[in-house]
Amino acid sequence: MTKKVKIAPSILAADFLRLGDEIRKVEDAGAEIIHFDVMDAHFVPNLSLGVGILESVRKATSLYLDVHLMMDNAHKYLKTFADAGADGITVHLEIYPEPDEVLDAIGSLGKDRGLSINPDMPVERLSGKVGKVDRLLLMSVYPGFGGQKFIPESLDRLRAIRSLLDREGRAEADLEIDGGVSTANAAAIIDAGADTLVAGTGVFRADDPVAAVRELRSGR
Ligand code: DX5
Ligand code: ZN
Repeated sequence: MTKKVKIAPSILAADFLRLGDEIRKVEDAGAEIIHFDVMDAHFVPNLSLGVGILESVRKATSLYLDVHLMMDNAHKYLKTFADAGADGITVHLEIYPEPDEVLDAIGSLGKDRGLSINPDMPVERLSGKVGKVDRLLLMSVYPGFGGQKFIPESLDRLRAIRSLLDREGRAEADLEIDGGVSTANAAAIIDAGADTLVAGTGVFRADDPVAAVRELRSGR
């Protein structure tokens, strides 16, 4: 099954002083999704964006808002992020090793259910855990910071996850990759089975964001 590749600029790399303009910039560039990174300075060694900013972003765009919760206790804040405008909410398997309950909670809020794994989590640990997943998010850097280098082993991990999703009856789930995605590696990433490419630096800091989105999507 070949899906259309979707591009999800991460606003972590945006110029926050001009956030409205930055959002329009990626809308005009043809991105389908805005990726919104929430960090708690505990699960990951950094703080980033919170609920108030999500509310403002929601007012500024009708693009799909993909909220990536890199935080402990995410289950306590699902409704808060849903009410603030999330379209999909992703939590980490590292925090929820038995993710069905938290994924059900996301689904019952009417939001797409995302599950993420870090670079050091064996892919096999997803086995039997993806039944309720709408979006599988593979971290291709250790989460916490934008602008890191793509970990090359992520390509084999993408292939393994794609076949696991197919095997476990979740072929329709999106397979998203996050961290160090650029025009230099997009072709290999798409070839390995990803259909949603998060890119912070690669889009917001590009000289020509229109070309960046086009080239990421076509893998050139
Ligand atoms: C990292 C975040 C990523 C980050 C990607 O912890 O989850 O979404 O913003 O940034 P780039 O594309 O610059 O690696
Ligand atoms: Zn992210």
